[in-house]
Amino acid sequence: MKILVTGGAGFIGSHTVLALLESNYEVVVLDNLCNSTYVAIERVEALTGKNISFIHGDINCSNTLQQLFAEYDIGAVLHFAALKAVGESVQYPYKYYENNVSGTLCLLQAMHYADVNMFIFSSSATVYGETSVVPYTESLALGSPSSPYGASKVMIERMLADSAIAHPNFQAISLRYFNPIGAHPSGVIGEDPKGIPNNLMPYITQVAVGRRKKLSIFGNDYPTKDGTCRRDYIHVVDLAEGHVKALDWLQKQTEFSGVEAFNLGTGTPVSVLEMVDTFIVETGQNVPYEFSPRRSGDLPEFWADSSKAQKELGWQTQLTLTDMVIDTWRWQKNNPNGYE
Ligand code: NAD
Ligand code: UFG
Repeated sequence: MKILVTGGAGFIGSHTVLALLESNYEVVVLDNLCNSTYVAIERVEALTGKNISFIHGDINCSNTLQQLFAEYDIGAVLHFAALKAVGESVQYPYKYYENNVSGTLCLLQAMHYADVNMFIFSSSATVYGETSVVPYTESLALGSPSSPYGASKVMIERMLADSAIAHPNFQAISLRYFNPIGAHPSGVIGEDPKGIPNNLMPYITQVAVGRRKKLSIFGNDYPTKDGTCRRDYIHVVDLAEGHVKALDWLQKQTEFSGVEAFNLGTGTPVSVLEMVDTFIVETGQNVPYEFSPRRSGDLPEFWADSSKAQKELGWQTQLTLTDMVIDTWRWQKNNPNGYE
């Protein structure tokens, strides 16, 4: 039985493919490379000494999916493929609904016709919306995220719930990631955003490596202890391991049908200033910064209650904030221009 990983050339997908191979799963990757490169796949092959079947294709193409499910004996699908830039999604909502929502629908339909029933979805803390109390627990109702990107994650979670009602064999997990950062400790694979980074960590490392002049910290007047926003940053290697545990769990379920959601976070929020200070102290690099106005849509703080994942999946984070900054810096220093 093989595992189909959509979006497996991307940041989280590539680290998860590596973790799956290390756990002796055989992997087929489907990626249209719209936000990644095949080099990431080659590097995972080199790190593991294993082959990855790669299909350069789109989740929105039914023919590609039909052929793929006919050719490979797929037992489960890990679905990372999505567009993820929050600001861009506000500007181009149709692009996000088409790629993320229609794409997932197309994938679910193809799985249904091929009788493939195990599904693990890359969801996000954004599904809790703007008014949930912290820490976020899975028992909270789905909220109303302010961006089309966030809405696409809520719509897909809803789609999974409806699939489970209609198809009793369907077994799905939504993994709600908090803020993934870090890189594999080899420094060989990591996050390589195209253009100006939207997220904090890649921006910090691009400043440190000299690609950008200074970091803008969006807002220092939030109701937090140092005035900057607090997030639950999680090492991508821990996150990847969470997928392996989720897959192991799904395969052990004999009675379960439906959808389970699990938060994947550390449970400890870190402010923007604390992140910048930790990076400077741990790497010895200078990161010039200035305070600028708040970024629209940012919440002051949120973090995970991940006790459900610990109890049910036997998963908890192992790596520290220091690991996160040191590993990200090793990747950036060794690859100043990413995979280029
Ligand atoms: P990424 O952009 O690095 O990876 C996504 C991959 O999907 C890329 O390789 C891209 O080429 C591919 N892709 C996109 N649309 C596709 C399509 N239509 N067909 C085939 N391939 C397609 O992003 P990432 O950070 O690795 O995120 C992976 C998943 O995790 C996404 O679903 C994202 O929404 C979710 N997520 C990410 C974060 C985060 O902060 N990185 C947080 C929460 C959830
Ligand atoms: N920030 C800056 N300067 C920057 C970039 C970010 O100050 O150049 C600040 C933001 O204002 C925020 C914090 O750093 O306070 C974290 O911002 P990120 O963009 O790194 O992360 P977000 O929490 O905004 O969003 C991320 C993903 C979303 C996902 C969410 C929850 O980008 O897709 O985590 O999982 F929904």
